[in-house]
Amino acid sequence: MITVTDLTKVYRQGKREVRALDGVSLTVPEGSIHGIIGHSGAGKSTLVRCLTLLDRPTSGRVEINGVDLTQARSDALRTARRRIGLVFQQANLFDSRTIADNVGYPLELIGVDKAKRAERVQELLGLVGLPDSGDAYPAQLSGGMRQRVGIARALASDPDVLLFDEPTSALDPKTTNEILDLILSLKHLGNLAVLVITHEMHVVKRICDSVSLLDAGRIVESGPLVDVVNTLDGRLAEALLGIPAHNPVDEVGGTLVDVLSSGSKAATPVVAHTSRIVGSELNIVAGSVEHLAGATFSHLRISVPDGTDPQDVIDELRRQGADAKVTDPRDLLEEQA
Ligand SMILES: Nc1ncnc2c1ncn2[C@@H]1O[C@H](COP(=O)(O)OP(=O)(O)O)[C@@H](O)[C@H]1O
Ligand SMILES: [Mg+2]
Repeated sequence: MITVTDLTKVYRQGKREVRALDGVSLTVPEGSIHGIIGHSGAGKSTLVRCLTLLDRPTSGRVEINGVDLTQARSDALRTARRRIGLVFQQANLFDSRTIADNVGYPLELIGVDKAKRAERVQELLGLVGLPDSGDAYPAQLSGGMRQRVGIARALASDPDVLLFDEPTSALDPKTTNEILDLILSLKHLGNLAVLVITHEMHVVKRICDSVSLLDAGRIVESGPLVDVVNTLDGRLAEALLGIPAHNPVDEVGGTLVDVLSSGSKAATPVVAHTSRIVGSELNIVAGSVEHLAGATFSHLRISVPDGTDPQDVIDELRRQGADAKVTDPRDLLEEQA
């Protein structure tokens, strides 16, 4: 389990201060995958460096299974750091070493003997789907295979936490999914807390149990995937559910209303029912259905014709178990801009 409490990092550039991390707190229990998503400049790389103490946090704590890394002194810190396996965008392998020697490198550093190392390396290569590649050199492998080697190497010192920094950003979509499925399978080893830092919503959708949105060094939304999408107001909900854009001002009149239904409600025709009960023709102008974290979410945008009170429509939708709110077309135009 990794617990981060009130982590802050301030960089000083002459007289200017950059608050790259500003009070970040999060917990990742073992057997789960937590995603940190944010735009460029949000503080993702700083977070990776501070979590691993490659960079000293200005304040705050990073605990792994209760041991505070920020308090550990050099020797203890080196040992504690081995509790974190790191995987970057590029595997950064030693070109002149075989795959087996790359994977075994962390074991070599701590003095594990050759026979034991060979056995463990073979086990790890099997785990990442490369049982026959031990004698190959990095240049002979595809990008996806090299990333598998990087994952095997990160697992070599038997870490408690695996930290991925943009693990699939350099890969094509098919290879991305293969690597994501491998990460997902590691979760089922059971005792690893996995943290994935990414700017891709697809990564969050496919493998994360919970997610935090990092913006200007702060976590502005956070929670289990099922919860963060189950609202009409969240930025994560909007990004993860991805309602199709349209041009409401030109094409449709009336009042626009966004409707969110989840679980078994997502499969029932709440808009049609509401149309009938309110006695008004509600027009669906955009929509999406997503399956996330084992649940179904339907996000529809409807137009309520002039002459019908939108509040009556919203009340009826809510009575039927959906959530609904009026959407200002000006907000939509800003989103598209
Ligand atoms: N070594 C540094 N010195 C000064 N400012 C930095 C340094 N590293 C990062 N920053 C600043 O901190 C902020 C977050 O950067 P970074 O963690 O690289 O974001 P991300 O990885 O999400 O793109 C940015 O404003 C960046 O300019
Ligand atoms: Mg970065």
